[in-house]
Amino acid sequence: MADQPTGPRSAKLYERALEILPGGASRNTVLRKPHPVYVAEASGCRVTDVDGVERIDFSNNMASLIHGHAHPDVVAAVTEQLRKGSAYTLATEIEIRYAEHLRNRNPSFEKLRFVNSGTEAIMAGLKAARAFTGHAKIAKVEGAYHGSYDYAEVSQTATPKNWGGADRPASVPVARGTPPNALADVVVIPFNDIERALTILNEHRGELAAVLLDLMPHRVGLVPADPEFVTALRDWTREDGSLLLLDEVITFRSEYGGAQTWYDITPDLTAMGKAIGGGFPVGAIAGRADLMDIMNPYGSSFLFPHSGTFSANPITLTAGLVAMELFDESAVTNLNALAKRAMRDIQEVIGEAGCPACVSGGGSIFRIHMKEQVPRNYREAYTTPEESRRLNSLVDHLFEEEGLIMINTCTAALSTAMGDAEIDRLVEGLRRGLSRLASMP
Ligand SMILES: Cc1ncc(COP(=O)(O)O)c(C=O)c1O
Repeated sequence: MADQPTGPRSAKLYERALEILPGGASRNTVLRKPHPVYVAEASGCRVTDVDGVERIDFSNNMASLIHGHAHPDVVAAVTEQLRKGSAYTLATEIEIRYAEHLRNRNPSFEKLRFVNSGTEAIMAGLKAARAFTGHAKIAKVEGAYHGSYDYAEVSQTATPKNWGGADRPASVPVARGTPPNALADVVVIPFNDIERALTILNEHRGELAAVLLDLMPHRVGLVPADPEFVTALRDWTREDGSLLLLDEVITFRSEYGGAQTWYDITPDLTAMGKAIGGGFPVGAIAGRADLMDIMNPYGSSFLFPHSGTFSANPITLTAGLVAMELFDESAVTNLNALAKRAMRDIQEVIGEAGCPACVSGGGSIFRIHMKEQVPRNYREAYTTPEESRRLNSLVDHLFEEEGLIMINTCTAALSTAMGDAEIDRLVEGLRRGLSRLASMP
């Protein structure tokens, strides 16, 4: 990434951060060169940094703030709850109310448990699937990001050097020291490729606990899964006796009942997170009652002891319920329409700019690629060093020159705090950014 003009206050804070935090932060996502930008305050779709620069936020804390920052109704409800306490070793009614709300959004959520992150929701889902089936192995899509559980992260950062043949994608570790058993227990399948995926899965008949699937995986190109692919995986898992676990940590925002309602299938389990926390750390695992009941310590099929100190804490659930009640059917429709308009205008701007680029996405989220064609799988979505250079330059241009914060893959996750004016700003910013790219060597 090219060095950018610095804000003196942010630069100073980063000097202190480097002394105590590895890399200067607890979260690589906030790092940028020459230093991270530190926030003073945020409201709606605008964030002001400690040097007084205001920007429009299209990243929304990695697609988790469906109403932008500090929505007044969320702030009021959470403030009231904070006065009464933030967490207890006793139950609260809000847990029941919010679980009922989510079940009303999607009938496949027969029973549900709350956790604290998407990572935890995926981990609980996979462990539940293992406990239910008695099998250790799972299958997942090459390159798909599902958080940082050892098994779920396999192949997430695969590269042309280590990803193996397309017929048999390799189980590539993310971190050094990943237990070899974790790698051996993860079967990697290509996205949207029924033939190859089923050939691989058939070699593991009777061995799998679950097939883990994100219906529009960000790192795989942010393209919705083909209905035929989803149906094939649903049919295969049903015949096999393994479970279909959908990762709707990001995609739940795409429809009132999640992106799964785009398809003619019912999953066994769904993991959620991000937007359902109303701005606070959250995860949830939901699905078939008989399956979820393996977490019931008083039930006859108690196979998976599951708990967590801050699971279902009333702060998160108060914020989440308010946020999701506000994100009703018409709010979902309006936000998706805004994203559609943005994608159409961006496509037009790309056409005019004359540099290789395209846009993919669905629901209220979209991604700009430095490629002529929308990628169909992880290998096609993989950014070459040259594409990365151009992409970083575009994201930096938007941040520094246009005052627009994108997710670092040049992805935007819209919030209901945005309207046509913010999309106009993005489209115009992209017009200038892309025309700069077109004239770059
Ligand atoms: C699709 C998907 N699944 C799971 C996760 C993990 O969620 P969390 O960061 O809350 O642990 C993420 C986070 O970006 C995600 O995008």
